[in-house]
Amino acid sequence: MQRKWIVVVLGIIVIPTFLWMQRDNGDHRQAQQLIEREKRLAIAEPSESIQSSDFDLAASADRGLGQPLPNDFLSSWVAEDGYWFVGYPRADVGVEIPFAPGKIAKTSTNTEPVNENPGFMGAQSCRECHAEKFDSFIHTAHFQTSRLATPETVHGDFSEGRNKMTTREPNVTFHMVQRDDQLYQRVNFYGWRFEVPMQIVFGSAKMGESYLYWHGDQLYQHNVTYLTDPDHWVNSPGYVDGDAAYARPIPSRCVECHTTYADFREERNHYTPGSLILGISCERCHGPGREHVTFHQTHPDSREAKAITNPRQLTRQQQLDICGQCHSGTAPRKTTPFAFRPGDRVTDHFDMSKAHLDDNRVHTSNQLNRLSRSECFQASEMTCADCHNPHQLERGDMQLFSQRCIQCHPPQQCGMAESIGDRITENCIDCHMPLRNTKKLRFETAAGKLFPPLRDHHVRIDEMATETYLRSTASESSASE
Ligand code: HEC
Ligand code: HEC
Ligand code: HEC
Ligand code: HEC
Ligand code: HEC
Ligand code: HEC
Ligand code: HEC
Repeated sequence: MQRKWIVVVLGIIVIPTFLWMQRDNGDHRQAQQLIEREKRLAIAEPSESIQSSDFDLAASADRGLGQPLPNDFLSSWVAEDGYWFVGYPRADVGVEIPFAPGKIAKTSTNTEPVNENPGFMGAQSCRECHAEKFDSFIHTAHFQTSRLATPETVHGDFSEGRNKMTTREPNVTFHMVQRDDQLYQRVNFYGWRFEVPMQIVFGSAKMGESYLYWHGDQLYQHNVTYLTDPDHWVNSPGYVDGDAAYARPIPSRCVECHTTYADFREERNHYTPGSLILGISCERCHGPGREHVTFHQTHPDSREAKAITNPRQLTRQQQLDICGQCHSGTAPRKTTPFAFRPGDRVTDHFDMSKAHLDDNRVHTSNQLNRLSRSECFQASEMTCADCHNPHQLERGDMQLFSQRCIQCHPPQQCGMAESIGDRITENCIDCHMPLRNTKKLRFETAAGKLFPPLRDHHVRIDEMATETYLRSTASESSASE
């Protein structure tokens, strides 16, 4: 009994420290975690044999309850960070959940918004007059980046045998399950099981998708993320393999980069559920549309656009800053969430002196900063729109992107033009904008760590990339001979 309390108390001290370290985001974090775990391991009691239970989670959920926590498990409320920690004697892994063990997440409550929606309506509202743009736009990563989780919108595999994620700890497994139209992540932690509903998807699945759920008016992230290549369930970025962490709050910055609008109620993750407009709509680049839509619906003969921003009419820096809201890394906020409007300066909304400039992480692969190092960028008036048409899905089409280079550079300008010949127009990209593996975007899996690659926007002459590309095309052509 006494020893159990030592573990509980240690949990209370260790977890906040651990979270604080995570905020600090140093490499110390991992080392610190290892040390803390060793300590926990050293004082914990030996385990009894672990029995898998046949408790009926579905029937219990209908009554608003989960499987009760067996007596030999440890649990403690970490007040400062607002979650329950659950452990098992001798286990060096743990569970973190915002709802009490034996309970389930509270269904979302539909409350009145705290702030008035400044006029965001969603892309649907543009369809009646800009059908062509709308029809192509809905295929883009922007539009797809957040949506309700349904069996149709989730890319990860729920079929028997493929719906499981194991960890380095054999007593901790995850199953992705479907009951009726609802999807769940089911955790088995030393025989004690609980389920968390998958309600919102973040990520177009270009690289992968993470899942969110409501606990009252709070949004949290699921432990398991789906990675597109390889087609695999993995721990969410930064999560520790073996833990079952369902208490990571979704802060407003996350929602601001991945949705059109949400009514932010209060720190850190309280939102008005009914206010969410999922998918990044036209309006994040053109401004809230309500006034424009109302005007043109009531003045159908007017051909002159009212109350909407055409980025082309802004200065170069203003155009770059529209994209820079979400593509120049994460930095502390100076204003309220969703306050940025096209025409504003990013530096008026975020403290860019504290942005992560050069790290190649998913949310700070920082295209704006990398691009600005390029001679192309410095010696021209280039904006992102010189290479990207935001209204179309153009991913993977290297020939099309190469055409964008060719608008400014005749292929003969390239020192390699002669040796490569006509084929040079097929792909300028892999030699001059190579992929680089993310450093900070780490996925832990039972098999090891994964670092998915992103396109480096520092356009440059790169000998290593050239060699790699020449080698890969040489092996392609010899393979086809
Ligand atoms: C009832 C019809 C109508 C709806 C709905 C509508 N627009 Fe427009 N929009 C127009 C008209 C008319 C113009 C001016 C003619 C043109 O450029 O096509 C225009 C022009 C624009 C322009 C170009 C502005 C310029 O200065 O060149 C943008 C950008 C735009 N709309 C965005 C949107 C967005 C975003 C939505 C949805 C939130 C939307 N529109 C919904 C009618 C509409
Ligand atoms: C509100 C935030 C936001 C704004 C504003 C924004 N983006 Fe994005 N962008 C994202 C997010 C988030 C993704 C990743 C979506 C995904 O794959 O889930 C993304 C993805 C992309 C992609 C990858 C598309 C693909 O299919 O591979 C390109 C290119 C891109 N953005 C360009 C731009 C450009 C250019 C601008 C400005 C004109 C811009 N973005 C403005 C958030 C934003
Ligand atoms: C500063 C803006 C920003 C913030 C904050 C942010 N993201 Fe992203 N996120 C992006 C961009 C941009 C991409 C696309 C990366 C790229 O292509 O360079 C992305 C990619 C992703 C992807 C992969 C999508 C895909 O298929 O490529 C997921 C999943 C994701 N983000 C989830 C989250 C979650 C969860 C949070 C909060 C914990 C978050 N993001 C915070 C901008 C942001
Ligand atoms: C990621 C940012 C972004 C998103 C999202 C976006 N646009 Fe645009 N849009 C732009 C930019 C940038 C331009 C100016 C393009 C240029 O400079 O060539 C533009 C131009 C336009 C124009 C005027 C010029 C033209 O091509 O006719 C209209 C109309 C327009 N967009 C409508 C829409 C509609 C409708 C949607 C949603 C269905 C949408 N846009 C989504 C960035 C965006
Ligand atoms: C808007 C015009 C523009 C576009 C688009 C553009 N560039 Fe450039 N680029 C320039 C200018 C201007 C320079 C400066 C040298 C010059 O005048 O050629 C330059 C320089 C370069 C250099 C020399 C860099 C160095 O460090 O020596 C390379 C390589 C290059 N560009 C490749 C590309 C590739 C590849 C693309 C397409 C992915 C591209 N550029 C797109 C305008 C552009
Ligand atoms: C196989 C890799 C490879 C491909 C493909 C390639 N380049 Fe290059 N490029 C290079 C290398 C290497 C150099 C430096 C050559 C040198 O200094 O002799 C270079 C040089 C350049 C330069 C700088 C020339 C100068 O003024 O010094 C430009 C601009 C350029 N490339 C543009 C392009 C464009 C545009 C394409 C596509 C049409 C392209 N490159 C395709 C590898 C490549
Ligand atoms: C010189 C051309 C060029 C310019 C300018 C440019 N990009 Fe890109 N971008 C590319 C190419 C090429 C890709 C790779 C596309 C692919 O793989 O399908 C890319 C990919 C991306 C992606 C997807 C990243 C990934 O690794 O999957 C994002 C996000 C993006 N660009 C955002 C931006 C933003 C924001 C700007 C302006 C700050 C910008 N780009 C300016 C050429 C450019």
